[in-house]
Amino acid sequence: MSASRPITIAPSILASDFSRLGDEVASVAAAGADWIHLDVMDGHFVPNITFGPPVVKAIRDRTDKIFDCHLMISPADPYLAAFAEAGCDILTVHAEAGPHLHRSLQTIRRLGKKAGVSLNPATPESALEYVLDDVDLVLIMTVNPGFGGQAFVPAILEKIRRVRVMVGARPIDIEVDGGISTENAGAVVAAGANVLVAGSSIFKGQGEAAYRRNIEALRKAAV
Ligand code: DX5
Ligand code: ZN
Repeated sequence: MSASRPITIAPSILASDFSRLGDEVASVAAAGADWIHLDVMDGHFVPNITFGPPVVKAIRDRTDKIFDCHLMISPADPYLAAFAEAGCDILTVHAEAGPHLHRSLQTIRRLGKKAGVSLNPATPESALEYVLDDVDLVLIMTVNPGFGGQAFVPAILEKIRRVRVMVGARPIDIEVDGGISTENAGAVVAAGANVLVAGSSIFKGQGEAAYRRNIEALRKAAV
């Protein structure tokens, strides 16, 4: 089954130059990014630490693009309001972050934001079964979360296909994250994904012209 929702490219700023973060966000937005993907890590749910609401707030006025916030934190609930206030448009929590996934999703929607749920590579799609009516987005990890630049796990293609079938006609985006490049963009979209997160494959080279070439190449490979 092919994706019916528009192909969306979401560069992950994890691979950008953090010393010039605001400029990097502005450059990748000008280069044709659809969304800006923000990887929040807590050193507990994942073995790495990145940034929190103040940094999101600091870059918010550098673009009007959708801020797609991937929360790799546990617990997530105590921080949802702060990320919403900082300017995130989509808040995605991990199904594994627990303890009450349904409550987290309800909280996000009550904050007026789009709710996403993410699955680690080892988590079966059955984790979505009772929450599909409460989500706007499913983020399927194609690497283990925590670091950029890891190799895409091909076994996850089958999970994307299964999630695509489960989602059916619901207005839900299916996003893939980790190791996405021109090598596999076609395969993930054919399997049913429509939002492609990419860090290293977009932020290679430096500056707007390079980012534009990289985004266009990914978009072309996705169709
Ligand atoms: C990994 C993050 C990803 C990461 C992707 O935990 O969720 O968003 O930045 O980076 P690449 O595209 O380099 O694998
Ligand atoms: Zn991510």
